[in-house]
Amino acid sequence: MNPRPVIIDCDPGTDDAIALMLALASPELDVQAITVVGGNVGLEKTLANALAVVALTGKKVPVYAGAARGLLGPFTSEVRVHGENGLAGIVLPPGAAPAPGLALDALRARVRAAAAPLTLLGIGPATNLALALMAEPDLAGNIAEIVLMSGAWGEGNVTPAAEFNAWSDPEALAVLLACGAPVAMATLDLTAQALVTPARLAALGACGQGRCLSAARDILAASPAHPFLPGAPLHDPCAIAYLIRPTLFTTRLCPIAIDLAPGPARGRTHIDRRGRHAIGPPTLILETLDAAGFFALLGERLTRLP
Ligand code: RIB
Ligand code: CA
Repeated sequence: MNPRPVIIDCDPGTDDAIALMLALASPELDVQAITVVGGNVGLEKTLANALAVVALTGKKVPVYAGAARGLLGPFTSEVRVHGENGLAGIVLPPGAAPAPGLALDALRARVRAAAAPLTLLGIGPATNLALALMAEPDLAGNIAEIVLMSGAWGEGNVTPAAEFNAWSDPEALAVLLACGAPVAMATLDLTAQALVTPARLAALGACGQGRCLSAARDILAASPAHPFLPGAPLHDPCAIAYLIRPTLFTTRLCPIAIDLAPGPARGRTHIDRRGRHAIGPPTLILETLDAAGFFALLGERLTRLP
């Protein structure tokens, strides 16, 4: 099967780093570009981290700098989870220079020129993707699918109501959901099924000795424990795995609405699993995950990297 052409927008970020490794190790995907947004840590660090991870894999993929913050509202990082450097304190050799130009312009040019519709993977605040679609709405006609790690049916992780990516730029998420391209979402309720327990981390580390696998293991081992789960959810690689091996997932098409109002509910994704009311555009929600299969896939793919 021909590899699926994708562009990944990210905010590395510990889980983003492993998601990038998984994507770059997988022949099912043709990663044509990586765009970076401020999120888990500031843009200067998320950009440096993306460049370092790409260099570690030995792959030649252009990396573009994007938005430093969301469309509206203040920028808030998540250093409690990702550490000051965004990789839980793990220091990777520096990568190459970023590609010239802005992420939104690279997204526009590449989607517009693509011979076959591109898939956009959004694993950070959705600002870059939204800016491209706001500047050129017709791009949606050449987007095969937008796959996001974002949102939650239930409790948020950055506030009781909201998941971090959705909360960081809810207007951008609303733009994506309404753009006309099919959207699939790995929410917190999905990623809570992909917990990095000590046993899974040990099994991952035993898969091999390559520099990428070692870095992934070190990043996960250095990440803080979850306050009440037996392991930290491995959020962003779930979105990548959905494109590589969709049989690991079950899905449900649900109307979804984003709460944009100021206050404690801002960024909440209202997901109607029963489809009772047309509260917003139908979105493919990734509902369940074969966790054993997911971690086996992750280990097998990371051993393919140097
Ligand atoms: O809420 C988890 C999401 O927010 C992940 O993408 C993580 O990297 C952060 O960006
Ligand atoms: Ca992320």
